[in-house]
Amino acid sequence: MADSLLITGASQLLTLGGRGPRRRNSLSDLGLIHDGALLVRDGVIAAVGTRAQVEALPEAHAAEKLDLDGRVALPGFVDSHTHLIHAASRAEEYELKIAGASYEEIARKGGGILNSVKKLRAATSEALKGRAMAALRQFAAQGTTTVEAKSGYGLDVASELKILRLHKELAAEQPVEIVSTFLGAHVVPPEYRGKADGAERYLKLIEENLLPEIGERRLAEFCDVFCDRGAFTVEQSKRVLQAGRQWGLAPRLHAEQLTRTGAARLAILLRAASCDHLEHVNRSDIRALGKSQTVATLLPGCDFHLGLKRYAPARALIDAGAILSLATDYNPGTSPTLSMPMILSLACAQLRMTPAEAITAATINAAYALRREKQAGSLEVGKQADIAVFEVADYREIPYYFGVNHCWMTVKRGRVIHGVKQATL
Ligand code: NIG
Ligand code: FE
Repeated sequence: MADSLLITGASQLLTLGGRGPRRRNSLSDLGLIHDGALLVRDGVIAAVGTRAQVEALPEAHAAEKLDLDGRVALPGFVDSHTHLIHAASRAEEYELKIAGASYEEIARKGGGILNSVKKLRAATSEALKGRAMAALRQFAAQGTTTVEAKSGYGLDVASELKILRLHKELAAEQPVEIVSTFLGAHVVPPEYRGKADGAERYLKLIEENLLPEIGERRLAEFCDVFCDRGAFTVEQSKRVLQAGRQWGLAPRLHAEQLTRTGAARLAILLRAASCDHLEHVNRSDIRALGKSQTVATLLPGCDFHLGLKRYAPARALIDAGAILSLATDYNPGTSPTLSMPMILSLACAQLRMTPAEAITAATINAAYALRREKQAGSLEVGKQADIAVFEVADYREIPYYFGVNHCWMTVKRGRVIHGVKQATL
């Protein structure tokens, strides 16, 4: 690969350039350049502008050339919420859901997260790794260049560490960037259930055995908790997130998904990077999120897959000034998709976001949700050359053509990781 790469011919280059996380009207500002071009040096963006501006640079002459022939280019998607490592699908539960069983009913009967825990504990690292590798190739094929990955299907010391070590291995061995999150407090594991002090004893295991090991070995950057009915209370969540912080893990939270618990308030109080789901927030939560720096991450894939009518109140959150973000929540129980374009379609049709708002939420605001705003989420000089190119004539066609993957090429740190030109670069 030559040192520099000149990319020209983007009929629309969405730079997402600008300052700060996007709220209200600025969510619509894509920083669109017609006939746009980029110069990439050593995996980093060296110049961005119109073709005429970038081609005029001396360095552009010697650079390797890539013509996008009128396609649309934008920052690679940042998927800020996934449960990447799991052993198998839960297709058997899908039929129960279609027949009318609720997510919580299935969980109470030992299905749900505990079903995935059983399967993960029985799986080898090699099998889990192979499955995750295949998923990461698909993420890249859909235009995603950064993926957050949560543990949470192990729920004992050996299995949680097995997942977190795999995050590290995968980050080193394949190109999609992985941001590791410890979600030991997903649910109370089976061996602690049905006993009065079960949850308490498990929380002690997290505090005394898991977090010290994770902190010392730097196996995760964030600590997450599933704070909801049937999982952990606000008090318990606070305790875990504060303990995580002692070991250098920044808080984020599954909040207000099945019921309103006050978890969004807790996320704001703890200055969490993000609180995610938010289907059941009330008006005062919305106002509080509007004023806070905690990103509000919406996961419409869950409501779609579970056949629920109640989506998060995206428009009210935008009007209140919240930093809105979107993610797939790729997991076997509530959202088995790794397609960010599909999430954009759901955001438009169900959350009533415009295509521009949805793209901003899935790129620069999602980078804020992962504290990667200095490296990713926009195409600006000095940032990583993480680029998704779509075979469309207008960016609005990305969500418009739902359920079809029009991603033509994906570039991570200047390297083509998916697409037809892969062989030539
Ligand atoms: O984000 N709600 C908690 N965690 C996941 C679901 C996990 C599962 O059902 O396996 C979620 O929806
Ligand atoms: Fe989740």
